[in-house]
Amino acid sequence: MKLTGKEELIKIIKDRIEKEGSISFRDFMDMALYYPELGYYTSPKTKIGGYGDFFTASELDRAFGELLGKQFVEIYQKIDEKPFQIVEIGAGKGYLAHDILKYLKENHPEVYKNSEYILIEKSPYHIQIQKEVLKDFEIVKWVQDVIDFEDESITGIIFSNELFDSFPVHLIRKIGGKIYEVYITVDENNEVKEILKEPDEEILKYLKELKIEIPEGMQTEINLDAKDYIQKIGKKLKKGYVITIDYGFPSAELYKYYRMRGTLLCYYKHQYSENFYENVGLQDITSHVNFSALAYYGKLAGLETTGFTDQAHFLTNLGLMDIFAELQEKGDLESYERLNRLKTLVLPKGMGEKFKILVQHKNIENPAIQGLEILPYQNQRYKL
Ligand SMILES: C[S@@+](CC[C@H](N)C(=O)[O-])C[C@H]1O[C@@H](n2cnc3c(N)ncnc32)[C@H](O)[C@@H]1O
Repeated sequence: MKLTGKEELIKIIKDRIEKEGSISFRDFMDMALYYPELGYYTSPKTKIGGYGDFFTASELDRAFGELLGKQFVEIYQKIDEKPFQIVEIGAGKGYLAHDILKYLKENHPEVYKNSEYILIEKSPYHIQIQKEVLKDFEIVKWVQDVIDFEDESITGIIFSNELFDSFPVHLIRKIGGKIYEVYITVDENNEVKEILKEPDEEILKYLKELKIEIPEGMQTEINLDAKDYIQKIGKKLKKGYVITIDYGFPSAELYKYYRMRGTLLCYYKHQYSENFYENVGLQDITSHVNFSALAYYGKLAGLETTGFTDQAHFLTNLGLMDIFAELQEKGDLESYERLNRLKTLVLPKGMGEKFKILVQHKNIENPAIQGLEILPYQNQRYKL
């Protein structure tokens, strides 16, 4: 009998466990999300949107892309070098790219003409959709990996929306004052079982470098892939900005005692759960981003922190309230529906405070930008 994709993936994971005795949670998550053709992101299955498992801001309303586009125009004028490169990493279905490109083409043809829009995407399924969605924009091209760029070769912007939260993470637990790492094995009933082992050396180094003390009994995530990736990006940038939009916190908030189970969650058909071992390859697994780590390791690769804010402040600084006023004035059904959707982007209980924006720059003399003009109250949720 032919195995389903899920069964095939589980078999591949179990075969690897049998060969190696156990595998780290990070490697399990990497296979569950990215195993060629069978992983959650690599298989041909709708993930983002109403028929998928979760929504992203890119899906909600074109205003998100338009306001980002407006921010990109300010950066274009500041940098004043051609070609201006906009590199989007992990663009998903390409809707955000579409809205940014449409805004630039229609409102700033000069910027559009002098720009290259480069997408880097790990999911072949998403690349296929992106090619269709972006077929009308001549300045778009795809590059397989960020490492394909020469060092210090990008002038412009490197940005992502919900990229780092989809990286595979190491899981750690603190017991008796000691850090252990979660590994996966299979018991005598062929069921997946977690075991604790000595942690990867890099994890201990990370905790020390970032001065992270986690409370006794806590289980949490360490995103070493994000640490490496932000340094890769930093090295490739010659002059410009890195803009990272995602849910997450600085270290001081992320490892607080009231997050004793960490932030790792699964999403399947808009329902969340903490069972990482069911719906393997069919459900998303995601964790909150440690923005202190992106700032710290980015700096090692030459990226200075320009500012750190939340989505509500960032979009408001860029003129979201003017869009609200215009829609309110129009008052028709479509405008009313758009208004409702847009509120989700800024409401504290929606995406407004959950989503943060980290802006970093390299070789820019006056780095201040409009999106960072008014910052949120500087409590520990905003101190990197
Ligand atoms: C949560 S989705 C976000 C999609 C999109 N940015 C949006 O806002 O709808 C994460 C995307 O990042 C992609 N991705 C994950 N790791 C990547 C990597 N190392 N390089 C490029 N793309 C990656 C995934 O395949 C997926 O398309």
